[in-house]
Amino acid sequence: MEHIEQKLQDLDTRNELAFAGGGEDRVKKHKGEKRLTARERLDVLLDPGSFVELDRFVTHRCDNFGMGQTKIPGDGVITGYGRINGKTVYVYSQDFTVFGGSMSRTQANKILKIQDLALKNGRPIIGLNDSGGARIQEGVEALGGYADIFLQNTIASGVVPQISAIMGPCAGGAVYSPSLTDFIFMVKDTSYMFVTGPDVIKSVTHEEVTKEELGGANTHNQKSGVAHFAADDDKHCLLLIRELLNFLPANNIDDPPVLPTDDPPDRIEESLNYIIPDSSKKPYDIKEIIQKTVDEGYFLEIQQHYAQNIVIGFARFNGRSVGIVANQPQFLAGCLNIEASIKAARFVRFCDAFNIPLVTFVDVPGFLPGTDQEWNGIITHGAKLLYAYCEATVPKITIVTRKAYGGAYDVMSSKHIRGDINLAYPTAEIAVMGAEGAVNIIFRKEINDAEDKDAERQRLINDYETRFNNPYVAAELGYIDEVIEPAMTRKRIIDSLEMLKNKKDKNPPKKHGNIPL
Ligand code: HXC
Repeated sequence: MEHIEQKLQDLDTRNELAFAGGGEDRVKKHKGEKRLTARERLDVLLDPGSFVELDRFVTHRCDNFGMGQTKIPGDGVITGYGRINGKTVYVYSQDFTVFGGSMSRTQANKILKIQDLALKNGRPIIGLNDSGGARIQEGVEALGGYADIFLQNTIASGVVPQISAIMGPCAGGAVYSPSLTDFIFMVKDTSYMFVTGPDVIKSVTHEEVTKEELGGANTHNQKSGVAHFAADDDKHCLLLIRELLNFLPANNIDDPPVLPTDDPPDRIEESLNYIIPDSSKKPYDIKEIIQKTVDEGYFLEIQQHYAQNIVIGFARFNGRSVGIVANQPQFLAGCLNIEASIKAARFVRFCDAFNIPLVTFVDVPGFLPGTDQEWNGIITHGAKLLYAYCEATVPKITIVTRKAYGGAYDVMSSKHIRGDINLAYPTAEIAVMGAEGAVNIIFRKEINDAEDKDAERQRLINDYETRFNNPYVAAELGYIDEVIEPAMTRKRIIDSLEMLKNKKDKNPPKKHGNIPL
């Protein structure tokens, strides 16, 4: 009896040592910077009491620079599994108080074990990153550890959802694993991502930049598009991850979760009839249409601050998860440009990989013209979105609210690229281009020859508009399945999703396609 008491006492002591992380002073400093500790973060992220830790006593095996004398159980990362809303997830949480959360060979081994379990069991993996990069004392062993993780990230891509939160400085190798995952969350004011930091930049390019400007949450959510969410603080970040998980299936074979809803599937929303302005030059907020249509008006927007001319995110229709893609007439008139194409393409591919149906709202005047766009490769980048929609085999429902012009009409989940149900509002204008541009090109001579050029141009514009700027030419050809009253949008999307519930479609077997990267 005494024997077991002693053993238990010994276990307690060892556990306490592991729980202490890098020690009181470092934990105090860490919390003073408004960051939760690695363990506190797991408490917020996971259902209460559900976390089970693995590898608590793992230590590094490095003897360089006196490291042999400083071994801390766990070696700077806490790994294990737990539940989010009752569903199992695998997690790791780097502890910045232990060697700056830096990546050692043994830390990498712990993360690899979790990645392997997540993949074998078909469950999401969530990484809470807070790390100074490769453990400098270890050198190439740490690099090997990173590379092993990158490989596992890539192999798991499209098999299980992979989520990364950046919750402190993430420098060097610490940024590449997150960028291989599906979604990156950052915390405002306390998290940074960069391949090389301000000091290196200064010595190489002589640029002076703060780490916030270089790689803070605002930078990566607005400028670079590297991150998908910007949270106000650690807690907000972790709760947002829980919300996102509610929309996702556990893996690429399971269906997404269905959540009960009180919102009637046949709800008719009269106000939708009055959202599209009389003038097709006037902007309106596409998010208003989304919010009035989805269950309880709840839309989880992704990359809210980046390429705002396209809106992407998750919502539910009659309890079922969908991915929404929508042109936003409020920004750049809803044009497709390089950033918008890349943003939406990646999202479409995520949804397709994880069996999440796509609902696309179209109001697009075309691709954004200009040398900047052409020289930076809008041809290749625009083709990414085209490719993503073409290859997607999940149910695809498209609603043209207003403009669907030119190549952008084809791209935005048109019937021709396997749109399953293509709907249009009576306000839709489906044509090669806007009436003014069209008339200036095809009637140049007639206009020049006319006595009153302006009057003739206007007459031709009016004629073109009557003939082509409507949904009925496309509807006559069967490219639009139904022209609907906007008030019916929710009901029709739910009818369509229900009708497409058993959809089976596939692409020919291949090693992988060659998306225009
Ligand atoms: C070992 C590290 C470390 C690292 C930080 N620490 N980074 N130990 N390896 N990479 C340790 C510090 O020595 C310190 O230990 C503790 O963590 C906290 O660090 P501070 O510098 O005091 O914290 P702070 O002022 O908040 O600055 C955080 C930081 C800075 C910006 C991350 O530590 C930093 O610049 N670290 C180095 C970043 C870097 O260059 N990493 C290597 C990248 S190369 P004590 O004992 O004092 O608490 C790389 C290649 C991989 O990653 C490529 C793969 C593709």
